[in-house]
Amino acid sequence: MALGSGEVAAGRLTLGQLLVFLAYLAQLYEPLNQLSHLGGTISTAQASAQRVLEWLNTPDHSANGTTPTPRPAHGVDLEFSAVGFAYEPGRPVLKGLHLSLKPGEIVAIVGASGSGKTTLLQLIPRFLEPAAGQVRWCGLDLKSLDRQSLRQQVSWVLQEPLLLPTTVAENIGFGRDGATRAEIEAAAQAAQAHEFIQRLPQGYDTRVGDGAARLSVGEKQRIHLARAFLKDAPVLLLDEPTSALDGESELAVMAAVQRLTHGRTTLMVAHRPETLHIAHRIVRLEGGALFEEPARPTR
Ligand SMILES: Nc1ncnc2c1ncn2[C@@H]1O[C@H](COP(=O)(O)OP(=O)(O)OP(=O)(O)O)[C@@H](O)[C@H]1O
Ligand SMILES: [Mg+2]
Repeated sequence: MALGSGEVAAGRLTLGQLLVFLAYLAQLYEPLNQLSHLGGTISTAQASAQRVLEWLNTPDHSANGTTPTPRPAHGVDLEFSAVGFAYEPGRPVLKGLHLSLKPGEIVAIVGASGSGKTTLLQLIPRFLEPAAGQVRWCGLDLKSLDRQSLRQQVSWVLQEPLLLPTTVAENIGFGRDGATRAEIEAAAQAAQAHEFIQRLPQGYDTRVGDGAARLSVGEKQRIHLARAFLKDAPVLLLDEPTSALDGESELAVMAAVQRLTHGRTTLMVAHRPETLHIAHRIVRLEGGALFEEPARPTR
């Protein structure tokens, strides 16, 4: 401005020219300002992209087997023999653990928080691999089985039910490729989820997950149960299926769970008596090993 005033005074520049120049200058500030932030944005994005690529390139160290996972008509038996597992060296979570489940048997696991119950369940779909011992499916070491066919035959309802950011129908439909809308609705009905889904703004086409329609934990769990009904797998893993529910929703979910366990080999983490009473057997996980709980009075 000082330079410009001098030029105007000397008659080499008109006042209008100076004013126009200053107006254009102001418009230049904002883009310059944005450019200075761009560097930061680019380096953050670069770091994130690098993490994603690192994860995508992580080799899967556990060799995949080749044997297709058997599914005998009378059900699947599972056996843990001398299984050991540790997340960090020197801090074993499971040690010399034994457990066998007969076809169609429902076994409940109890134990203190952090005792390794969720860890134990994750060995079955091979999300984790035992460091020692074997897990056998109808007598075959899980390591020898083809992982994809194995996971097709295991349904799980996890402790923190996560939904993907898409419609309710698709979240249930993940249970089985090519499921029709009628099959999805039948599964939701079996899981006592049909009624609340119909009350959602767009019913089965309502988008859920991050930032979309909010569902309670009990409702999410019932969507997971519906997926498990649709999947119709012979082995069922339930991790505290009713932990976050009030009495009334718990009854609804338990009725669905009880129907779902019928004829399936079920391993379930549970605490509450309402959940435990559907189990044939209760085992306690303590110090990395399992102990049979004394028989309890049947209801
Ligand atoms: N990804 C992980 N990395 C390292 N340690 C882990 C990991 N997941 C679990 N752990 C540890 O392993 C132990 C067993 O955890 P796990 O989740 O199996 O317990 P849990 O019996 O399911 O507990 P809760 O009843 O609270 O669900 C805990 O000490 C936990 O801190
Ligand atoms: Mg757990």
